[in-house]
Amino acid sequence: MERSFIILKPSCLKRALVGEIISRFEKKGLRIVQLKVARLPREKVEELYQQHAGKPFYERLVDFMTSDRVVLMVVEGRNAIDVVRRMVGATDPVEANPGTIRGDLALDKTDNLIHACDSPESYEREVRIFFDERELSE
Ligand code: CMP
Repeated sequence: MERSFIILKPSCLKRALVGEIISRFEKKGLRIVQLKVARLPREKVEELYQQHAGKPFYERLVDFMTSDRVVLMVVEGRNAIDVVRRMVGATDPVEANPGTIRGDLALDKTDNLIHACDSPESYEREVRIFFDERELSE
């Protein structure tokens, strides 16, 4: 069964949207494999977003992601990576379709509520930054 790696960005805890978002994934039929709350160190966020280093929005993005606690999640299900990305919606919440998480609940491009891996390769790379082998063998 495929797995997806998800981060609920700091505004999810601040706006009390964690339950709403997790509930959408559960109702869809995705199984929660791991879930934890953490304040991310700058180095881990820089590693996560290494492909964006140097872009105009990069510093703002890293500052935002380290500004407060996030929720780290691994979910599992059939075609989980694609299913999660469809449920999350387009990167820019202005363009995200209604019915998607960003389309319904976000407006800002940096603070677009949620990050999700976009391929099996990015899943493998990203999940290892935040979870160890033992946590993933549950
Ligand atoms: P995320 O899915 O976390 O992956 C990279 C993030 O960079 C993205 O969501 C946005 O929050 C942010 N991002 C991407 N492009 C832009 C942009 N043009 N302006 C501001 N932020 C961006």
